[in-house]
Amino acid sequence: METLSVKQLQPCLKTETLGRNAVVLDTVDSTNLEIRRLLEKGAPEGTVVIADRQTAGRGRRGRHWVSEAGCGLWMSFAVKPCVQLDQMQQMTLAIGVAVCKAVETVTDNAAHPLIKWPNDIAIGGKKLCGILCESFAGSPYPPEIKGDVADATEGISIVVVGIGVNTKRPKSGWGEAEGTAMSLEEAAGMLVPRMELAVAILNEAETFFDAMRVGGFAAIAEDYRRCMLPAGTEVIVMDSAGNPRRGRIERVEDSGALLVRLETGELEKIVSGEISLRGVCGYV
Ligand code: BTN
Repeated sequence: METLSVKQLQPCLKTETLGRNAVVLDTVDSTNLEIRRLLEKGAPEGTVVIADRQTAGRGRRGRHWVSEAGCGLWMSFAVKPCVQLDQMQQMTLAIGVAVCKAVETVTDNAAHPLIKWPNDIAIGGKKLCGILCESFAGSPYPPEIKGDVADATEGISIVVVGIGVNTKRPKSGWGEAEGTAMSLEEAAGMLVPRMELAVAILNEAETFFDAMRVGGFAAIAEDYRRCMLPAGTEVIVMDSAGNPRRGRIERVEDSGALLVRLETGELEKIVSGEISLRGVCGYV
């Protein structure tokens, strides 16, 4: 069984902040929760938590995330916002690109993941990776260092990014996600060393965040477009009331908004992650 350690992570990082403080655990309830606890105790920006197994892995919309030992990269990190408060969605898009590029690198291009807007990552129409970003409205830091982190984006001092990449099919199966989940081993025919994947994701993520600090999402929009489901992909757009409308992906704007051409001919602009896209068949 592959063991995980900080020693496999830090010497390979090219980052300035991400992963410079890192904690690797056998078991934790959720790496997102653990990082919040560490932040409350004064852990610095860039702190990374990786666990072999999560007992209460959390997905979006309160869903459970299957996180069996040895079956995935369960990782969270804390990062200062690199965009304004009303553009936080752009950070989640950037993380999706970072994961896609990292997966291609560590599999030597044997796997070609695609982003289902905003940041689910799928291979062959099945979900490989989920991303859960949680931002703090107040500073989780003790008062003496609060001034240091509260300046980047008014109201939000730190974002906790949780990333779950399935590297191997769990022995007990994917539960509710059975039939719609995928592992890297199945997709690429190889068992990827999880720490190598973590290094690649952290290196890519910091590069994208730095680029966005200077040029906003437009600076990485082309990278995002290369990784996303192609134009013309048929999708169902759910409006906020849950009513489904069919359409086809047109493109992603430089702001990160998704444009979908509805069957009615209307061009729908989707800016919020609250609206979900569902494939007309299968997961994508
Ligand atoms: C989704 O629903 O698509 C998001 C899933 C996010 C799962 C990851 S695993 C590491 C981190 N810790 C958690 O409890 N959740 C995220």
